[in-house]
Amino acid sequence: FIPAGSGGGAGGGIIAKDALGNDIKAAEYLQTHPPGDRSLAQGPKGDPTYIVITEDVQIAEYGLNAVCTHLGCVVPWNASENKFICPCHGSQYDKAGKVVRGPAPLSLALVKAQVTEDDKVLFTTWSDTDFRTGQNPWWT
Ligand code: FES
Repeated sequence: FIPAGSGGGAGGGIIAKDALGNDIKAAEYLQTHPPGDRSLAQGPKGDPTYIVITEDVQIAEYGLNAVCTHLGCVVPWNASENKFICPCHGSQYDKAGKVVRGPAPLSLALVKAQVTEDDKVLFTTWSDTDFRTGQNPWWT
């Protein structure tokens, strides 16, 4: 027996956790994060992963792995520039994580994000086409 969302088992996904390691509660989260917000949660494999809030105040169907595709720094969101800007070597990604300036070679990896019936945020593998590039995901 495996409790829902407890582990990182293949295909099972993982429940997003806050910085303290608590499960994020979607309804509460939406009350404290404005439209367009991108804030970090703990995602699959412990990777820092952005939860994206859409303009109509929903948790977006995709999250973004914050690990820079250049050399692995965690890339902060810059709300005033509307971009992710890597502090290490200056790579930039647009608001959907698509690379717009190198040296990063690839866009930020996508994960699938969905709100569960018990109001948690479930991250699972994004294995569909990358909607930013129209190509197969490079991370699977
Ligand atoms: Fe991000 Fe080099 S690690 S630009």
